[in-house]
Amino acid sequence: MVASEAAPFAKTGGLADVLGALPQALQARGEEVAVVLPRYGRIRLDGARRVFNDLRIWLGPACWRADLHRIDDRGVPVYLVDCPALYDRETLYGPGGADYPDNHVRFAVLARAALAVVRRLFRPEIVHCHDWQASLVPVYMRHLLAGDPTFYGIRTLLTIHNLGYPGLFPPEILPEIGLDDSLFTPGVLEFWGQVSLLKGGIVTADRLNTVSRRYAREIQTEEFGFGMDGLLRARADVLTGILNGVDYAEWSPETDPHIAARYSAADLSGKLQCKRDLLAEFGLPADDLSRPVIGIVSRFTVQKGFDLISEVAREIAHEDVDLVALGTGDAAYEELFRDLAAAFPGRIAVRIAYDNRLAHKIEAGADMFLMPSRYEPCGLNQIYSLRYGAVPIVRATGGLDDTIDEGTGFKFREYTGSALMGAIRDALSMWRSPEVWRETMLRGMARDFSWNASAAEYAALYRRMLEDRP
Ligand code: ADP
Ligand code: GLC
Repeated sequence: MVASEAAPFAKTGGLADVLGALPQALQARGEEVAVVLPRYGRIRLDGARRVFNDLRIWLGPACWRADLHRIDDRGVPVYLVDCPALYDRETLYGPGGADYPDNHVRFAVLARAALAVVRRLFRPEIVHCHDWQASLVPVYMRHLLAGDPTFYGIRTLLTIHNLGYPGLFPPEILPEIGLDDSLFTPGVLEFWGQVSLLKGGIVTADRLNTVSRRYAREIQTEEFGFGMDGLLRARADVLTGILNGVDYAEWSPETDPHIAARYSAADLSGKLQCKRDLLAEFGLPADDLSRPVIGIVSRFTVQKGFDLISEVAREIAHEDVDLVALGTGDAAYEELFRDLAAAFPGRIAVRIAYDNRLAHKIEAGADMFLMPSRYEPCGLNQIYSLRYGAVPIVRATGGLDDTIDEGTGFKFREYTGSALMGAIRDALSMWRSPEVWRETMLRGMARDFSWNASAAEYAALYRRMLEDRP
């Protein structure tokens, strides 16, 4: 597998959760898996072995030099591509939500290093690539290495975790990623006058999948297709949806080391202690625990539905409910939450941060979890919320629609403030019937989204890919 993030090494979102769990789940089923990742500056090499010294990667006239280190993560070898000039930086993709200007080179080197791993260190039958950052792998295999017998018979799978990130660059970058101008055509890399690396992957990978069935259908429509729906419809015969799983070793209130008290479906008493702890953590009064707390943990981006929250925030504040939010991202949304917290002290609070411990505390202490996404390929937080008894309020889109049902949460369909407010009011009204509420919580806590089922689907997909080898 080739990707730009994987827990516990580097994480900005759910992609890392997937890469931190799916390889192990596949390995547990008897597959042999390795992961290739950039070695970002913060990744420590303690316990790693240098397995390749001074790998040279030529991209046009430029030569990038990298060492490859191997570290084992719960039985799965992880190859770290160590090229400090490209990866030893403050953040993964760029400062404050912007992109580093050389991201095309950074992820071209990742792709070429991954192919060096395939050539020299770990010989797979399938290279499984994730998102635009790994999309050059199938492009190089198809166009640069087509005649190279090393790669003969190796199949490629591209998983699209988020079509909203197409990896766009101006056409002038092609020589810098070692590709010929002749690939700048609508049939390969050209996308409305620019280069889209994701498009390159969509066009050249042998198979495609996304992270829920619903999203696999949605991206073939104009509404969710980001201009690529036609392309995806043309490849519908090789496009499937496989729902992500959850790493319950990491996300279970029975064993979670980050929360104030452990609890389970059989004994919920610890949850109240977690709620008190959460309110204290956010500086909200814990005088009336009968008032529900709504939690948000999110990247602050347009994808996550913050314009709707902005529309109804004042209405929410006038209901009998507290709201706590954790996230970072677009400055406008960070400001929105800061303003709300200032306008409604004691009722709304925000932490502008990336804080894993606090994310766990919110799942454990919140009574409801809000995720009104405009679109959502899968979404993991709502699934964590089910297990923690934080009843999800979600927009019925993508993976949110596939994982939450009437028995376990609240859904609204139309992307409007009033539809969102309707779902929140339904939740508040059910909250006033403690028995019904408890049953809803318990149904959610009993749902099982462990990785094993998803890993079985990936394994079956890999088998099919090997069967249709020419
Ligand atoms: P996405 O990948 O689109 O951001 P997901 O729901 O799939 O959405 O996954 C988000 C992951 O990132 C979850 O594990 C969540 O806990 C984590 N996360 C997001 N924002 C933060 C934050 N500010 N602090 C800690 N964890 C966060
Ligand atoms: C993306 C999507 C999210 C999904 C995650 C992991 O970041 O936005 O919905 O859960 O990838 O697949």
